[in-house]
Amino acid sequence: MILWIKAFHIVFVVAWFAGLFYLPRLFIYHQMATTPAEHDRFVVMERRLLGITHIGGVLAVAFGLWSLFAWINLSPEFLRQGWVHAKLGLVAVLIAYHVSLIMLARQFAEKRCQRSSRWLRIYNEVPALLLIAIVVLVVVRPF
Ligand code: HEM
Repeated sequence: MILWIKAFHIVFVVAWFAGLFYLPRLFIYHQMATTPAEHDRFVVMERRLLGITHIGGVLAVAFGLWSLFAWINLSPEFLRQGWVHAKLGLVAVLIAYHVSLIMLARQFAEKRCQRSSRWLRIYNEVPALLLIAIVVLVVVRPF
């Protein structure tokens, strides 16, 4: 059973990251939009992708917590491992990043985003760095 939970946890992590990777990219292109029709099209695309990202995120966290409680039930020491603490800390940063995507999508929809193209390109790299760190923590378990 615990392997089925982990399998679906990973499936929804992938779905979550599809949105976390592509939404900032859409913002970069949106910022270059010149006509109202282009603007409206980006708003629709961002809203739909945000919906998928929400579903992926909620289910990735839900299956992650289910897996965590299943492991704690099996061996309470599981929660004392350093990599688990570090991972949950980075997941909190990832959730904060997700919330910032919601706020940016709203700013773009209301044509009041002040962020520079350079800022958006750097902002776009954050999920990749978090993904590398979290996967190394949970697979290699360095501490
Ligand atoms: C609150 C959020 C999360 C919780 C509570 C959580 C918890 C867990 C737990 C308990 C396991 C099982 C470990 C095992 O079977 O040995 C696991 C596996 C895994 N998690 Fe998460 N996780 C969360 C979010 C994430 C995120 C955001 C990512 C990706 C960036 C991620 C990537 C993975 C991977 C790749 C595995 C499989 C590791 C392996 O089989 O060696 N998790 N997670």
